[in-house]
Amino acid sequence: MTTPPTARRPLVRPAILAIDGYVPGEQPQGGKWIKLNTNENPYPPSPAVGRALAATASGRTLAKYPDPMATAFRRRAAEVLGVDPEWILCGNGSDDILTILVRTFVGEGECLRMPYPSYILYRTLAGIQGARCDEVAYRPDWTLGDEFAAAADDLRLAIIANPNSPSGTVLPPERLADLAGRLDCAVVVDEAYGDFAETNCLSLVKANPRIIVTRSFSKSYALAGLRFGFAVAQPAIIEQMLKVKDSYNCDALSIAAATAAIDDQAWLAENRSKIIATRTRLTDAMRRLGFTVQPSQANFVWCTHPDRPHRPFYEALKAQGILVRFMNYAGWGDGLRITVGTDEEIDAFLTVMKTL
Ligand SMILES: Cc1ncc(COP(=O)(O)O)c(C=O)c1O
Repeated sequence: MTTPPTARRPLVRPAILAIDGYVPGEQPQGGKWIKLNTNENPYPPSPAVGRALAATASGRTLAKYPDPMATAFRRRAAEVLGVDPEWILCGNGSDDILTILVRTFVGEGECLRMPYPSYILYRTLAGIQGARCDEVAYRPDWTLGDEFAAAADDLRLAIIANPNSPSGTVLPPERLADLAGRLDCAVVVDEAYGDFAETNCLSLVKANPRIIVTRSFSKSYALAGLRFGFAVAQPAIIEQMLKVKDSYNCDALSIAAATAAIDDQAWLAENRSKIIATRTRLTDAMRRLGFTVQPSQANFVWCTHPDRPHRPFYEALKAQGILVRFMNYAGWGDGLRITVGTDEEIDAFLTVMKTL
């Protein structure tokens, strides 16, 4: 047996040693939980998804590599969104798309800008690149000041979740167009929750070659377990992103299922209405209980209490089998992010909240 030489330097890149790694919300395996913590859709997906999965699994499709370009999905999505297929790039969830974007635009020692508090994965992705993350605080009313567009030599990418998480609030497309017009870098509008909102930024992509919109199938299409998302950008950007993605980043089952899902726009419209109706009921009920609730355009609500600590609510709910997300943002404060579940789930949640 040979003894390894004394390590002269760490095995792992310093940039990786320096970061904490992204910690996703709790996903308990087994047990009966009411899960209102990771913004999943509480309803099953369109029945067309099950049919597409069965058809794909029964033939010889799975014996072959999948289509690297997810052509069937791109064609159908292009029709639904009113763009050409060349404007779409698919990924293994929108997290994969975000990873591709950060790797495409941000090099070591360069800068990624994001609002704060927002989706913490952006910070992790910058850290993996050995890049700096410039976090610009939201104002107390969750609007974003002009400092977000301040010039910086090393700035390569800005990412704004719209609707934002954890607030559920939305910046109007005109404001995003204004910020993007002033920023000297690519701008990603992360519309993971865009299908629940009143506005979106797809038209900005046509007007500005630096804007990229990302979408997820995990929320509005009830397919978090499948992993599918996509980006919409001008073809010159998509071409560069293609060089960065894994060859087969979407498998044959997810391509077939996502194509069937986006084809069923009637299902999407009905699901959206149900979620929005329950969101209104949840917002009103939480306000009656004394919470401040941000006006949400997503499938969750951000609640803070003017004088009660938030963590005990999370703990008491968990003890009763209900998971919500307790979020604590350093330098900003904490609160509860509650996913819009079914009416029955929200009733059970409110029943416990009333006892607290
Ligand atoms: C703002 C935001 N973007 C992206 C994602 C990731 O979505 P996906 O499941 O498509 O990777 C999430 C997930 O919670 C999110 O909150």
